[in-house]
Amino acid sequence: MQAALKKIIDFDSDDFVNNPYPTYHQLHQAGPYWLDHNQTNSSSKGMWLFGRYDDVSAILKESVSISKRVLKVRPEQNVTPLDYNMLNQDPPDHTRLRNLVSNSFSLENIKRITPRIEGIVDDLIAKMKAKGEADFVKDFAGQLPMIVIADFMGVPFEDHLLFCKWSSDILCGYDSGVSSTDNFKSYHGAIKEMGNYFAELIEYRRNNLSTDLISILIEAHDKHDQLTGNELVSMCMLFLISGHETTTNMLSSGMNVLLNHEEQFLKLKNNPEYLIPAIEEMLRYESPIQRATFRITTKECEFGGRKFAEGEQLVAVIGAANRDPEQFDNPDVFDITRSPNRHLSFGVGIHFCLGTVLARTEARISFGKIIEQLPNINRGKGNLRWNDKKLFRGLQNLPVSIY
Ligand code: HEM
Repeated sequence: MQAALKKIIDFDSDDFVNNPYPTYHQLHQAGPYWLDHNQTNSSSKGMWLFGRYDDVSAILKESVSISKRVLKVRPEQNVTPLDYNMLNQDPPDHTRLRNLVSNSFSLENIKRITPRIEGIVDDLIAKMKAKGEADFVKDFAGQLPMIVIADFMGVPFEDHLLFCKWSSDILCGYDSGVSSTDNFKSYHGAIKEMGNYFAELIEYRRNNLSTDLISILIEAHDKHDQLTGNELVSMCMLFLISGHETTTNMLSSGMNVLLNHEEQFLKLKNNPEYLIPAIEEMLRYESPIQRATFRITTKECEFGGRKFAEGEQLVAVIGAANRDPEQFDNPDVFDITRSPNRHLSFGVGIHFCLGTVLARTEARISFGKIIEQLPNINRGKGNLRWNDKKLFRGLQNLPVSIY
């Protein structure tokens, strides 16, 4: 099976970018699969891919024999301002950083900003309606999460085009590998510029504190010495990137999948009580994050029936786990009433996504209002293009008509 798969896994091929699922089914059959140098375009030695649900879940949950601490293995000259955030840390540093911000992402706190999100969604829908034809990515899915996260963090929305460009360049070059050489220049350039931007903004905001996320982090640094200056900048970068791209992908892939499954879309329009399970099914069916972030073994351990030595890189392929027939009946069928639906799209374990309430709230408000206010939304003219960002699955465009 390894030999057959070797020819098939090519993350950069058009076939894979357009439809990764046949390859993922091969991963279910194959078990742990070694991807070597050339195939990863990475200067790290290669990585083990896992696609079975149970293996992916076990790897994401493990925090003793697996580390996420990029700084431990990254050559000093390649360290970037993004490396110090909580997603790249192990306990106790991870716990310390997560505790500083977890309250901001609580259900209660997100409820407070719900009216603001509703207002933005109404506004974006009205603008699409007025045009009659729209690009759902450009006019809706790419806008809402950026406006919301900029508000939430307290960064000026006027700079959103810069953020979009930086996060796009960063995510094009970012892989589960520690030192991808792909898109090396734009990746490192964007990280540097974004890091400098936040360093300046933090300096300015120091004298203008409010209740937003940046203010909370600045106070934790300045008054309570709870995080370092590098961590402060890096956490801001993480929130802006993770709060934006993933949610954009969830909204655009979700809309696309509804348009592809007319009968399910109609069922949802006629039964809005299915909205929440429908959103969970969108998340399972087209996972916005396809492969989890960097993980490396810290000692001898066993996953998927295979032993690993210290220092091996393990990649949890979430997009494959969500289509594993051992976990989901008819995994390639989109079913808005699927239950149970224990997808892994938000990860699991100590690095479980901090922004789930925010992301689900944005999805619930968006699709709730789309059903109500755009009953005739349909596919528009033009071909779809999937983006080729390494870890993420999302559309570059989604033409729709709204008559
Ligand atoms: C549909 C949208 C989203 C998806 C699918 C998603 C997915 C994920 C996944 C899979 C992880 C774990 C990665 C790993 O273990 O390697 C993660 C972590 C994280 N996400 Fe999200 N995310 C979404 C939205 C958001 C939003 C809106 C925010 C808000 C800023 C956010 C902030 C974070 C943070 C801070 C972490 C790191 C948590 C930690 O290290 O403890 N995410 N996300």
